[in-house]
Amino acid sequence: MKIQKLNANEEPPFELLLLADPSRKLVEEYLQRGQCFIGCLNGQIIGVYVLLPTRPDTVELVNVAVDEKHQGKGIGKLLVKHAVQNATELGFKTIEVGTGNSGMGQLALYQKCGYRIIGIDRDFFVRHYNEEIFENGIQVIDMIRLSQDL
Ligand code: COA
Repeated sequence: MKIQKLNANEEPPFELLLLADPSRKLVEEYLQRGQCFIGCLNGQIIGVYVLLPTRPDTVELVNVAVDEKHQGKGIGKLLVKHAVQNATELGFKTIEVGTGNSGMGQLALYQKCGYRIIGIDRDFFVRHYNEEIFENGIQVIDMIRLSQDL
């Protein structure tokens, strides 16, 4: 898989981006404020992530997603590691990420890539989403915040 920056003239892979965040409005805002990177295999986009600058020296990894047919093969890990390397090269000092309280796989993935839990944004998903979201049979209510120094 080749990971590259999405060119300004290319259409963002919304189907993939919406796997990670059901709000098209938030995804569009992230794309406008951040840089989108795509993972391509045989001419097809199978993975994506967005790097979103949030504060001086700090960037947030958002919208990490892998095509369902290609999940569980290490691609998510490659994308998360690429994002860390990329943020380092872009000169950021800290990279952050947030995931729902129900995201067992995501919590494992981020910790395996060097992130540590720094806090909980309670009721984030209640405040920012109109509909109730469920994952792994658990309502997504709080956002677990993780970060790593670069
Ligand atoms: N316990 C322990 N480890 C777990 C785990 C669990 N319950 N679930 C996953 N993992 C581990 C895997 O074993 C793997 O680590 P390893 O390589 O050391 O075995 C790692 O987490 C990730 O596996 P990988 O195959 O790289 O992940 P993926 O390609 O399936 O991508 C997502 C992961 C989350 C990006 C993908 O499932 C996805 O697109 N989901 C929908 C969108 C989404 O939820 N995005 C994240 C928003 S916060």
